[in-house]
Amino acid sequence: MDKSIIINGEKYAIDVDNDMPLLWFLRDRLEKTGTKFGCGAGLCGACTVHVDGVATRSCVTPVGVLAGKSITTIEGLSDDGDHPLQKAWLENNVPQCGYCQAGQIMNAASLLNTNPTPSGNDIDNAMQGNICRCGTYQRIKKAIAQAADELAREVS
Ligand code: FES
Ligand code: FES
Repeated sequence: MDKSIIINGEKYAIDVDNDMPLLWFLRDRLEKTGTKFGCGAGLCGACTVHVDGVATRSCVTPVGVLAGKSITTIEGLSDDGDHPLQKAWLENNVPQCGYCQAGQIMNAASLLNTNPTPSGNDIDNAMQGNICRCGTYQRIKKAIAQAADELAREVS
């Protein structure tokens, strides 16, 4: 059976082994390298993408189970890098080395999809599984709160 997957709005055939992790399908097959490899074991969050809008760790998700699903990666989060989170990230100079940041932003975007007005605790709880070896946690939290405020202004 012909299996395909939608990634950032474009349809791709799943023409690899069903067991290949989505992360490697994205990076090696499609050369979408914004999504990063950290631990390969679902423990750090560097590889976070959205599957039908929900944050998902692509390193432990076989591509074969995603036929017909819609995936969003950091490359597809916005057309021009102008998602409120991306703007807040820039304004707050969040990244240090940057390696974890795509996963951080995708996880935060999933949070705001389900909870557009998160409390500080909500942010802490949602982001606790995304590891940053550079310790940018306080700036991440500030940027998420700022992006939530902007989203609230946009809908009011
Ligand atoms: S690389 Fe996927 S959770 Fe660490
Ligand atoms: S910015 Fe370096 S690991 Fe997070």
